[in-house]
Amino acid sequence: MIATIRSLSKGGNGIVLLSEGVCFVPYVLPEETVEIEIFPYKKNLWKGELKKVIHPSPFRREPLCKFFGSCGGCNWQHISYEKQLEYKKEILLYNLKKITSFPIKDINLQLIASPHIVDFRSKVRFRIQNRKIGFLKKESHQLQEIDYCPIINQVSNQALSRARKSDLSSNELIIITNGQQVLTSQDEKDRYLDFFFSNFSFSINCNNFIQSNLFLLQTMLRLLTDFVSRIKPESVTELFSGAGFFSIPLARLCKRLFAYEIEPANIRTMHYNLKKNSVTNISIIQADLNQSPIKNSDLIVVDPPRGGISRKLAAQIASGCQAIAYFSCDSATFSRDLSYFLSKDFQLEKLFLIDNFPHCDHFEIFAQLKK
Ligand SMILES: C[S@@+](CC[C@H](N)C(=O)[O-])C[C@H]1O[C@@H](n2cnc3c(N)ncnc32)[C@H](O)[C@@H]1O
Repeated sequence: MIATIRSLSKGGNGIVLLSEGVCFVPYVLPEETVEIEIFPYKKNLWKGELKKVIHPSPFRREPLCKFFGSCGGCNWQHISYEKQLEYKKEILLYNLKKITSFPIKDINLQLIASPHIVDFRSKVRFRIQNRKIGFLKKESHQLQEIDYCPIINQVSNQALSRARKSDLSSNELIIITNGQQVLTSQDEKDRYLDFFFSNFSFSINCNNFIQSNLFLLQTMLRLLTDFVSRIKPESVTELFSGAGFFSIPLARLCKRLFAYEIEPANIRTMHYNLKKNSVTNISIIQADLNQSPIKNSDLIVVDPPRGGISRKLAAQIASGCQAIAYFSCDSATFSRDLSYFLSKDFQLEKLFLIDNFPHCDHFEIFAQLKK
């Protein structure tokens, strides 16, 4: 059938309104006229497969990568980078409007683009199937073999080439880079890769969490420390602290920091990082934050996985501090959690959209809230 794309959904697909329901079409842009084949998948919901672009959008671009469309990684390489940023902003504002009662015109939203749109990934996890390395195809368990990926940098691509020639016995290959060096899951298990910042160094191994855009690590730290410097907290509670990327600069700005994290691998690395940087005012607490109580503090820093935070945890945060620094990688769960904090007398001071993920519909959000 021939269809016109209305807008992009959260998830990055084009929306087509059918008389029978809504159809989601990947690899298209708003206002394009396209030929699609449609398949029902849920009540009133359809999936569309792009057959031909009849009237392309002026913002359509040649994809960077020969695997675009078959690889399940990037889904927006066909969109100019400036327009990707605009669509991300629209998706965030749409969710905020739909889910919270916050007056959109009052939002002080700042958009921070990625300084580079290739070579930016700090960490990549490839699958290995039948001794071949790649990414899973979109919505599939089938492997798309990959020999080069433009969003990982040159040293990471070199590590990929070396791994392709090696004996592949595991089912995944993880590569992390600080820009110049790499560490892979094929290297010895007790090795660390160091990242250097103005007043501390941060080390991780392949099992640890790291924010994904090499060129925005420093920016994320600056946005957080600027807010903390304004609040001047004596105590800080940090939830979902990972291996301590935020914790070390935060600890320098307060007397006492309580860091909560569930993964033993991240906690081991955090102890290593604290020792290396001679930080002594952090208490690390291993806990499942869906279950456990948390310490009250002047400021609570939160950086949860995509699902956001439970209502029980949100209630503890709201009654346990005067200011919240909330990082999120999902605009829908973020809007839900923000809505709760607004109902508990917090005010949204500033909101940042940080584009950690060029060529994907994902983005990072940073909210500064005060009672
Ligand atoms: C988005 S990462 C944030 C890491 C850290 N802020 C950083 O910048 O490196 C989320 C972290 O939450 C941890 N996590 C996930 N579920 C958790 C839970 N239920 N309780 C405690 N920590 C959890 C993960 O292991 C991960 O390290």
